[in-house]
Amino acid sequence: MTKNRICSLLGIRYPIIQAPMNWVSGAALTAAVSSAGGMGTLGPNAGAHKINPDVEATGELARQQIHKVRSLTDKPFAVNVTVGFGEDMKYSKKIVNVLVEEQVPVAIVSVGRPDVYTETLKKAGIKVLHAVSTARHAQKAQEAGVDGVVCEGFEAGGHKGFTELTTFVLTPMVADAVDIPVVAGGGIGDGRGVLAALALGADGIYMGSRFMATQESESHDNVKQALIRAKDVCTVSVPKAFMLARDLQNTFTEKFQALQKSGASKEQLIRYLEEHNPYRAQHLGESADAEIHCGQVGGLINDIPPATELIESIIADLKKRFAALEKEMGVFA
Ligand SMILES: Cc1cc2nc3c(=O)[nH]c(=O)nc-3n(C[C@H](O)[C@H](O)[C@H](O)COP(=O)(O)O)c2cc1C
Repeated sequence: MTKNRICSLLGIRYPIIQAPMNWVSGAALTAAVSSAGGMGTLGPNAGAHKINPDVEATGELARQQIHKVRSLTDKPFAVNVTVGFGEDMKYSKKIVNVLVEEQVPVAIVSVGRPDVYTETLKKAGIKVLHAVSTARHAQKAQEAGVDGVVCEGFEAGGHKGFTELTTFVLTPMVADAVDIPVVAGGGIGDGRGVLAALALGADGIYMGSRFMATQESESHDNVKQALIRAKDVCTVSVPKAFMLARDLQNTFTEKFQALQKSGASKEQLIRYLEEHNPYRAQHLGESADAEIHCGQVGGLINDIPPATELIESIIADLKKRFAALEKEMGVFA
């Protein structure tokens, strides 16, 4: 019987959660990660092959993806709810209804307040993990009744808050601030990262970018190859109206930075972002000229394995490094 709090809470073997990635984490990746003993998560646009603003269609697509995951695995999995703000919350309302009707095991709630859907989800028996980027927000999420928090450091790929707290400092701060289980994300890509996060006080870990370069990920092959080519300094922080995004450095980010430098208006920047959105990279394969969310860990990624192989190698590496560290620490005894 495991004593790890995240494994016990979610009913999984390894405390490894595949983080939601908008167009990238569909049913195949989610099911593969869950079957391998971790927990897979469907992204908000899982299974979509075009941009469709229709709320009903978006919700029903999520339902189909949930059915597909269930046809591929009997293990627990999660669905991402991006709460959003104002008018945009119509999407999250619909998704939450679908999650309740479908009785999904876990919701990973991000981009918004924790008090909006927690009660509804928990009343339906769904476990709730809420994504935060400060210790204060972690406390607020705990007060709202969530089952666990995910803290995402500045290294992470995709959208995040405006703070620059890195995983190395944020994780122990959050672990000290709350009593509920803590999942650490941002910059983790191998056994070393997992071991470090657990040592910092996390109960589990959250990986996005590393799972983007797996065989089951929905990323276009051009994007996967761009990840393989990425070297140490491979990402750029892109400030948007509502959040910061961390993206893979490419022609898109260079042009965005040049536009900013030239004093382009807010409207011009928004138009540029819309015209070069992640859909263009992830589905049309425009890996140079469109936005690719990616964490700093991109510089550590050198292969595109099946998700099961990746998880097995991370666990083997983790065990090996833990044993070596224990032996080395014996010197201080
Ligand atoms: C391609 C991509 C798409 C993402 N899309 C989402 C999303 O739809 N919802 C969300 O909550 N986070 C999203 N994120 C953030 C991840 O869930 C996670 O916080 C991040 O990947 C962790 O850092 P890492 O990339 O260093 O592993 C995305 C990240 C990436 C790389």
